[in-house]
Amino acid sequence: MRILVRTDAGDAAECAAGLIAERLARDPKTVLGLATGGTMEEVYRRLIVRHRAGTCRFAEATSFNLDEYVGLGAEHPCSYWRYMREHLFDHVDLAAERAHLPRGDAADPQAEAERYEAAIVAAGDIGLQLLGLGPNGHIGFNEPSSSLASLTRVKTLARSTREANARFFARAEDVPRLAITMGIGTILRAREVVLVAIGPGKAEAAARMIEGAVSASCPASVLQFHRHCTVVLDRAAAEGLALRDYYEDIHPGGC
Ligand code: GLP
Repeated sequence: MRILVRTDAGDAAECAAGLIAERLARDPKTVLGLATGGTMEEVYRRLIVRHRAGTCRFAEATSFNLDEYVGLGAEHPCSYWRYMREHLFDHVDLAAERAHLPRGDAADPQAEAERYEAAIVAAGDIGLQLLGLGPNGHIGFNEPSSSLASLTRVKTLARSTREANARFFARAEDVPRLAITMGIGTILRAREVVLVAIGPGKAEAAARMIEGAVSASCPASVLQFHRHCTVVLDRAAAEGLALRDYYEDIHPGGC
């Protein structure tokens, strides 16, 4: 794992946006794995700035989002479809027919999950997977106890995840109980992974992911097995790392 510790949240978002832009410059046909959540809003803002400046093009890229809530159609204001349109898709030149999310309102969510997994395989798997980190160590919606070999499927959300995401909904009880999520096995097939974690609320999960035992009780810890994984943290999220000095010696300033 390459651990980059940046000064603050804005700096970490800029670093992640830079890694994505570099990848797209090297391989404009990259299959991007995209994430949602508060952390990504700033990453996408920085990508849009680059796009407007003419330094980041998505015209030939394909994208697959990590997850979607079961029961929410694309037009639901809290769906990840709407999130992606608002925070990225409506502002860049990614072709609509190559931007994919699981359909949360599919009549048979498990069949939809299997279709989605097959579509990722057919696209040649993910080239660069962007990830956030759940306070409980989840990636996508792979909650603790998820199989480390899992494929895209329907998962029940942990109560703590529903509480953490309640801020995006009008009422806490509106947060769906189920989601379709890429599996951990799906994520591990990505050729490159960039995980971003910001703020003190992620410090414990970040320490378990980077320095703890590989375990389904912290799904993100499986990234220790990935050959090309970069973790971008701000100082607050890096607070619990025992080897922080070492990471900062290797990558001064998180570069
Ligand atoms: C949700 C998403 C995850 C994301 C996590 C962290 O649970 N399914 O993919 O990593 O939120 O979100 P935030 O950045 O808002 O802390």
